[in-house]
Amino acid sequence: MAVDKIAILFLFGIFAFTEAGTKLNPVVLVPGDGGSQFQAKLNKPTTVASYCIKKTDYYYDLWLNLEQLVPFLIDCFVDNMRLEYDNVTRTTRNSPGVDVKIPGFGGTETVEWLDHSHISLNEMKLFFVDLQQLIERAYYTTGNQKVFLLAHSMGNPVTLYFLNHMTNAWKAKFIQSFISLAGVWGGAAKPIRLMISAWLMPSDQFWGPDEVLVMAPTRNYTIRDYKQLFKDINYETGYMMWEDTHALINPLKAPGVEMHCLHGVNVTTPKAFRYTNKTWHESYPETIPDDGDGTVNIRSLHGCLKFKKMQKQPIYHKEFDKAEHMQILNLKSVIDYLKKVFVKS
Ligand SMILES: *[C@@H]1O[C@H](CO)[C@@H](O)[C@H](O)[C@H]1NC(C)=O
Ligand SMILES: *[C@@H]1O[C@H](CO)[C@@H](O)[C@H](O)[C@H]1NC(C)=O
Ligand SMILES: *[C@@H]1O[C@H](CO)[C@@H](O)[C@H](O)[C@H]1NC(C)=O
Ligand SMILES: *[C@@H]1O[C@H](CO)[C@@H](O)[C@H](O)[C@H]1NC(C)=O
Repeated sequence: MAVDKIAILFLFGIFAFTEAGTKLNPVVLVPGDGGSQFQAKLNKPTTVASYCIKKTDYYYDLWLNLEQLVPFLIDCFVDNMRLEYDNVTRTTRNSPGVDVKIPGFGGTETVEWLDHSHISLNEMKLFFVDLQQLIERAYYTTGNQKVFLLAHSMGNPVTLYFLNHMTNAWKAKFIQSFISLAGVWGGAAKPIRLMISAWLMPSDQFWGPDEVLVMAPTRNYTIRDYKQLFKDINYETGYMMWEDTHALINPLKAPGVEMHCLHGVNVTTPKAFRYTNKTWHESYPETIPDDGDGTVNIRSLHGCLKFKKMQKQPIYHKEFDKAEHMQILNLKSVIDYLKKVFVKS
């Protein structure tokens, strides 16, 4: 079968046909964080600076729009992009007066091109309903062809969580295979510095209770010290968000479908951070290196191997030398592997 004739029609949902019209299995994509577009419409009560736009009567590209990521304008962007955490309902909402929509669900363009000028797991209920419907639609519109789920980075815990909540009968009917690229199965040390996602904090299933993650002048922090760590960096909200999310896929439960687990190795990846300055959390730390894909530690990438003993469906595992966390999306050897899987089934 001519693999190069595969037409990619969708990217949240890719439907593939050969030129001769032979049906192939559809593919549904679950991108990582930062991996899809956002559009925003503004009617803000206040702005952080006089040059920030307060009101628009149209939706504009909020993420990713390189024109906004420049000095001064970036302050407006951050204020529009930020989430407010409600510590009573334990949910987040958009910055006041910012209406956000995610364009192109089920299509490919919005994840192929992040910048339009040439898009947290709890609170994702609507996404899971849409994802289930997209998978079922992909299956029926291709004449009952089972669906590949292809996930990258944080899309992997999202997909696992989704599969963990579907019945075995549903999975057996609709899912061909779960293909995982650069999966974050047990968190990663890198976001400790960025604090981009409390959900990605290193997990107690993968890090020992005495392993030091952050070295500060007066004390060290391990996975047991998250409460103190968030307090000491004046971000107690972060600890609440960690409490809300850390058990979503922890401890890991097998997906219950065939799986291909692909990831990079032999790329220097943060293992711990050493701060020497007294005002330590405002300074730049020294990074203690580990193996991994540059973002995710090797032990977390290997998390999918735990599924081997938990389910009867096969788990195929392949490491790609020096395949960095983002570059894996564009690596010829990975794409060749995917083409083989998609065509053979
Ligand atoms: C919740 O947030 C409010 C406003 O920021 C703050 O005053 C309060 O201390 C917080 N409560 C908890 C339990 O963190
Ligand atoms: C933090 O941990 C490092 C490495 O284990 C150790 O050398 C250092 O003395 C510890 N610092 C404190 C303040 O406990
Ligand atoms: C330590 O922090 C202070 C205040 O933020 C800063 O002025 C100073 O340059 C920092 N020193 C180092 C070695 O990073
Ligand atoms: C990673 O590097 C080690 C040491 O150089 C090497 O033995 C191993 O084969 C490499 N991994 C891959 C997948 O190439």
